[in-house]
Amino acid sequence: MAIKRSSGNQKSASTNKKTKKTKSKSNQGKKQLEKTLKNDSSSESRLVSATSNTEETENQEAGIRPQTLTDYIGQKELKKILNIAIAAAKDRQESLDHLLLYGPPGLGKTTMSLILASEMGVNCKITAAPALERPRDITGLLIGLKPGDILFIDEIHRLNRMTEELLYPAMEDYRLDITIGKGQSAKTRSIPLPKFTLIGATTKVGSLTSPLRDRFGLIQRLRFYEIDELTTIVKRTAEIFKTTITEEGAAEIARRSRGTPRIANRLLRRVRDYAQVEKADAIDLELAAIALEVFDVDPRGLDWTDRLVLTTMIEQFQGGPVGLEAIAAATGEDSKTIEEVYEPYLLQIGYLNRTHRGRIATEAAYQHLGYQKTLF
Ligand SMILES: Nc1ncnc2c1ncn2[C@@H]1O[C@H](COP(=O)(O)OP(=O)(O)O)[C@@H](O)[C@H]1O
Ligand SMILES: [Mg+2]
Repeated sequence: MAIKRSSGNQKSASTNKKTKKTKSKSNQGKKQLEKTLKNDSSSESRLVSATSNTEETENQEAGIRPQTLTDYIGQKELKKILNIAIAAAKDRQESLDHLLLYGPPGLGKTTMSLILASEMGVNCKITAAPALERPRDITGLLIGLKPGDILFIDEIHRLNRMTEELLYPAMEDYRLDITIGKGQSAKTRSIPLPKFTLIGATTKVGSLTSPLRDRFGLIQRLRFYEIDELTTIVKRTAEIFKTTITEEGAAEIARRSRGTPRIANRLLRRVRDYAQVEKADAIDLELAAIALEVFDVDPRGLDWTDRLVLTTMIEQFQGGPVGLEAIAAATGEDSKTIEEVYEPYLLQIGYLNRTHRGRIATEAAYQHLGYQKTLF
């Protein structure tokens, strides 16, 4: 099998140029990315990263976060199930069942928890597993709960053993077992807790221990969003921003958003900046496309590292199968970062396959990057 770049058609030729340009830019960009990656393993500097970056503080996201189930777009299955749970809990005047939400970042887990609290008319205390280091961190939170309250724990797969073991009786019997003293004189005391709801959120449901997972009454997965759903989200956010946007302009941003509302909103912010500088009255298809090209987000939402990974596989490894370590070495990226940050979306859109012999770049990836796969 040999690989040849197609030069016959116009579209591929222009994609070729873009890929080359991307490559020369990639070195300086890479340094910056490496710096960011060293501080934290997530890729916070990427425009198309689904994790929230420092610029998007809770406050900033709060303004555009939907407040009611009706405003929460998409996730029809999830909404149906939660609507039933809400109605039943209200009817029985009880708290909601403990709920575990899982799925990639930026799909609306935190948002859904806040909505559930407001639908139930209760408070929502928000925390994250890394903040619950010492036993007193979690006991403090549990003791402060009022009947019906929601305790939201983000990244719940990262809880430590001690904290997790304090949660078991709290979730099951609404009881807090604390040990006072040390060694032989240690005593256990039980403190009753009000009935509350624990909502856990995680991107890695497989990393949860089974005793913890088993204590959730509802376990729900969030899905990537469809283009029409993301279009609606972009239009809604634009309205909040008081920015004029056409249907096609919103759809163009949606197509480049990797199925993720957080990215859609972030791209909208960048396009809005661009429109302002260009003194455009409205964001239409052309303006959105040009702006996102400037920010190096391609028509499928790939950035230069995504394309670097794919072109490396194609040019240096004949499209694969190739091992993760080999891709990492050839691209100069960290293998864990490739696996956790870049691969999931490439897998999702079918540009990459994982086999037991290694990674394979698919036909769709060849086409997207303007390569032609020729069989001999
Ligand atoms: N279903 C939705 N409809 C509209 N906007 C959404 C939806 N889900 C998420 N968003 C937007 O995306 C952003 C990220 O959502 P968030 O709940 O923080 O994601 P997660 O907790 O899963 O990482 C929110 O600020 C919100 O504006
Ligand atoms: Mg969140």
